[in-house]
Amino acid sequence: MSQASGASDVPSMGRRQFMNLLTFGTAGGVVAGALYPAVRYFIPPSSGGSGGGVTAKDAVGNDVVASAFLAEHNVGDRTLVQGLKGDPTYLVVDGPEEIRGYGMSAVCTHLGCVVPWNASENKFMCPCHGSQYDETGKVVRGPAPLSLALAHVDVEDDKVSVSPWTETDFRTGDKPWW
Ligand code: FES
Repeated sequence: MSQASGASDVPSMGRRQFMNLLTFGTAGGVVAGALYPAVRYFIPPSSGGSGGGVTAKDAVGNDVVASAFLAEHNVGDRTLVQGLKGDPTYLVVDGPEEIRGYGMSAVCTHLGCVVPWNASENKFMCPCHGSQYDETGKVVRGPAPLSLALAHVDVEDDKVSVSPWTETDFRTGDKPWW
């Protein structure tokens, strides 16, 4: 009722407000629509849902907390955590407050040994048959035929999440083999 009298008193204002509301509502809808895939991308970090991210776990199965992880590791460290499907995955500390945006599977692409990081050689060196990978996980010596699998690493609410890498492998320019 009051709305009807207000509209008749100041019709132009009412119309402007309505248009503002419409514009805002439309813009809000567009923004929400644009954000939805990004939000959805980050929502399932601990659900372990297929295709989404998972929260990285430490050796005893606790969530990897970024601030604590960074406090415990030095720049340049490569540390194994449980990533996608529980696979051993290296997280890399790139700075005092920076975890690298990608991690590398520790599973050798030859016959599946877990490949340790050799800091003095600046390489991952497989003890089983001698394959070597550079600091990005790119294979530099066989018999391993392929580079270590990549995964995205993000920090959300201080938790480290790992999600599938589906884009081109920047180290080789090829599609992911994994
Ligand atoms: Fe790593 Fe054979 S399993 S070199």
